[in-house]
Parts: sequence; C-alpha cells; structure tokens
Amino acid sequence: MLKLLSSKWLKVPVFLLCLGPLGIVGWRALNGDLTANPIEFITHATGDWALRFLIITLAITPLRIILGLPELIRFRRMLGLFAFFYACLHFSTWLVLDKFFDMSEIWKDVIKRRFITVGFSAFLLLIPLAITSTAGWIRRLGGKRWQALHRLIYVSAILAVIHYYWLVKSAIIRPLTYAALLAILLLFRIIVWFWFTKRHPKPTPALPV
Ligand code: HEM
Repeated sequence: MLKLLSSKWLKVPVFLLCLGPLGIVGWRALNGDLTANPIEFITHATGDWALRFLIITLAITPLRIILGLPELIRFRRMLGLFAFFYACLHFSTWLVLDKFFDMSEIWKDVIKRRFITVGFSAFLLLIPLAITSTAGWIRRLGGKRWQALHRLIYVSAILAVIHYYWLVKSAIIRPLTYAALLAILLLFRIIVWFWFTKRHPKPTPALPV
C-alpha cells in the first residue's frame, strides 16, 4: 500500500478519476441527455463536485493520521485544485449560461440573494488558495503564514455548506450531511491540535542571563 501510494505514476489515474464528473457531464451533453433543464443540471453537478472535492481535500489530513498513511499528502494539492476547478465551472455556468454576463443582474443577485452572497464568498476565498498552492509560494510566504492562509479552506467549506443549505427548499438531508461531515473534520483538527499542544507544550524561552 505504502509503495503504491508513493509511486509517482499513481497521480495520473487519480487525476483522470477527478476529471470523471466532468467527463460524465460532457458525455451526457454529447448524447443530448442533460435533462429538460441543462443549465440547472450543469450548475448542480459542478456545485456538488466542488463541495465534494472540498470535503475530500479536508479529509486527507485526518485519513493520513488515522490510517497511518503520510503519503496521502501527495494528493492534497491536486484534490484542492480540483475543488477550485469545479467551483470555477460552477460559477462560470451561472455567469455565462444563466446570467449571460448581465452585470446589473449579477450584482443584484450577489447582493440580494443570500445563498448567492455566501456561495460567491466561498468561491472568492478559494482564489488565493489556488494561486498560492505552489511550492514557490510556500517558500515565499514561509510555512507558518502559508498554513494560516490555507486555513481559509475551512471558512470556504463552511460558507459552501451554508450556500447549499439556503438554496434547498425542502430536501435538507444532503446539505445537513455535508454539514455533519465538515463538523467531524473540524472537530478532529481541534482534538489533534489540543492533544498536541497539551502533550508538546512550547518550551519556555530561556531567560536572559
Ligand atoms: C466554493 C464555491 C461553491 C460551492 C462549493 C457551491 C456548491 C453548490 C451546491 C452543492 C449546489 C447544489 C447542487 C445540488 O442541488 O445538487 C449549488 C447550487 C447552486 N449554486 Fe453554488 N457553490 C459555490 C459557489 C457558487 C457561486 C459563486 C455561485 C454564483 C455566484 C453559485 C450559484 C449557484 C446556483 C445558482 C445554484 C443552483 C440553485 C438552484 O438550483 O436554485 N454557487 N452550489
């Protein structure tokens, strides 16, 4: 298992797998099978996958610790970028196919419809994370600052779940399931952080002589 996870070739099938949801939408489009409301279908499919990839990305660290598989970290960046990729497709579908670049309509929606306001904020927060996801940016910002910045992924995921919860009319089970998953992932981090700081308190700085 360890050998498989550290193989440099494994990234290729994982990458192709992540493109699967887009492939399915493309295939259905080619076969004229995008339901009676194609724009709604694409918006929902891309929104669902943006949220799923956000949750999967956040699950990497807990899984590394629980399963004792540190190599899983190699896939975190790719998964996070796929979350951003599907969020971009989701946003573009709304911007181009739904709103036809009508700036006044877009602005009205962003300000007046609360589920759009939080969805838009969730999307905006992912932009600096995608930009600074490279090794060069980690070096430039320094590990600590980079980590602090990348904690924004939690804020983005929370806003995305609120976005989903506010847009559904009655079927609240799915947004609530995402909310529960996110809560478990957040709780895990808090427990690990608490345990770590209790077990390994920072050494008291040496007093000046
Ligand atoms: C990280 C960013 C975002 C995530 C993870 C996300 C996620 C989702 C999810 C899960 C759905 C529901 C899909 C379903 O019902 O199966 C959805 C629907 C939708 N989202 Fe987003 N979204 C994001 C950002 C945005 C942005 C920026 C906009 C537009 C400004 C937007 C507009 C919409 C619209 C119009 C719908 C469909 C609403 C309806 O059916 O009435 N989303 N989104």
